[in-house]
Amino acid sequence: VAGLYGERVVESLRSARLTTDLLTFPAGEANKTRQQWLELSDRMFALGCGRDSCVVALGGGVTGDLAGFVAATYMRGVPLIQAPTTLLAMIDASVGGKTGVDTPSGKNLIGAFHPPRAVLADTRLLDTLPDTELRSGLAEAVKHGAILDADYFDWITAHAHAILEREPAHLGQLVSRSVELKARVVAADPLEHGERAILNFGHTVGHALELHAAYGIPHGFAVAAGMLIEAAAGEAAGITAAGTRDRLQETLGRCRVPASAAADPAELLPAMRLDKKARGARARFVLLAQIGRTARTAAGEWTHELPESVVNAALRRVIRDAGVV
Ligand SMILES: NC(=O)c1ccc[n+]([C@@H]2O[C@H](COP(=O)([O-])OP(=O)(O)OC[C@H]3O[C@@H](n4cnc5c(N)ncnc54)[C@H](O)[C@@H]3O)[C@@H](O)[C@H]2O)c1
Ligand SMILES: [Zn+2]
Repeated sequence: VAGLYGERVVESLRSARLTTDLLTFPAGEANKTRQQWLELSDRMFALGCGRDSCVVALGGGVTGDLAGFVAATYMRGVPLIQAPTTLLAMIDASVGGKTGVDTPSGKNLIGAFHPPRAVLADTRLLDTLPDTELRSGLAEAVKHGAILDADYFDWITAHAHAILEREPAHLGQLVSRSVELKARVVAADPLEHGERAILNFGHTVGHALELHAAYGIPHGFAVAAGMLIEAAAGEAAGITAAGTRDRLQETLGRCRVPASAAADPAELLPAMRLDKKARGARARFVLLAQIGRTARTAAGEWTHELPESVVNAALRRVIRDAGVV
């Protein structure tokens, strides 16, 4: 995005009489590393940046997480402004204060909570976003509706076409509503001790699918398959209302979000036990009560343990029905 929007942002900041430098790094998750964190930090030292500096993260979620982690640690923390340029970064990664980098042992394993002073999301930047990235981000918006707001879920379903056509008014509404919903959850539970876990609907299975595919599938597509499988498992366990998985499938279809589930179920269960929500090496799941509302356990917990046979059956059913490979 430096080539697309970097100069314009630099000029805009300079015209406001702010000393501004453009620091870039190569795109892609493969660069969300400790090495890039080190190089960016050293470049800031070379520029003489002090504690009166501010980091502006212009880019997708990779930039937000990496530049955010630089800001979190530089001289024990300097202010951060998130300027997200992907749909996923606008509605998800830039909201909630999580920053960090990947390691060979796993994604996002080193990081810090460092809430931005401001998030500036200009949906016109989405005009240049590749279609796959748009649809992958849209899966997270569907998730927001599924866990928190049935009206929003229905609105996305009804307006999927306009959203995919990038109608400005629709993109604006989509980003505003998703940010409102996510911000409400993280404000109630900033450090993820409880309720914030519901944002992980579809992600226990989704992360296992991504790991299995060596991150070769877009995150949103893996989450889409994860939502279908977790809805099917919730229905089979009598926790999720019947027909929920069908409604999810209908909406994801209209959003042209393919549910990628190229995996042998037997290979996915071990990865789920490694999920951050797992306890005592037992996988846990966020389950819907119905579209628009999550279910809590009898003990009031936000995540559920399910018998592996139920999860396995749901995996097999959805992978078979969706015909996805
Ligand atoms: N911190 C959080 O709470 C949080 C939440 C969700 C995801 N994430 C992280 O976000 C990352 C994924 O973010 P992403 O999906 O935005 O991917 P990304 O940052 O890799 O961006 C995707 C691709 O689109 C390009 N791009 C970005 N904006 C563009 C634009 N406007 N026009 C044209 N091309 C553009 C990028 O250069 C990149 O190649 C992951 O690392 C994930 O862990 C963090
Ligand atoms: Zn996600």
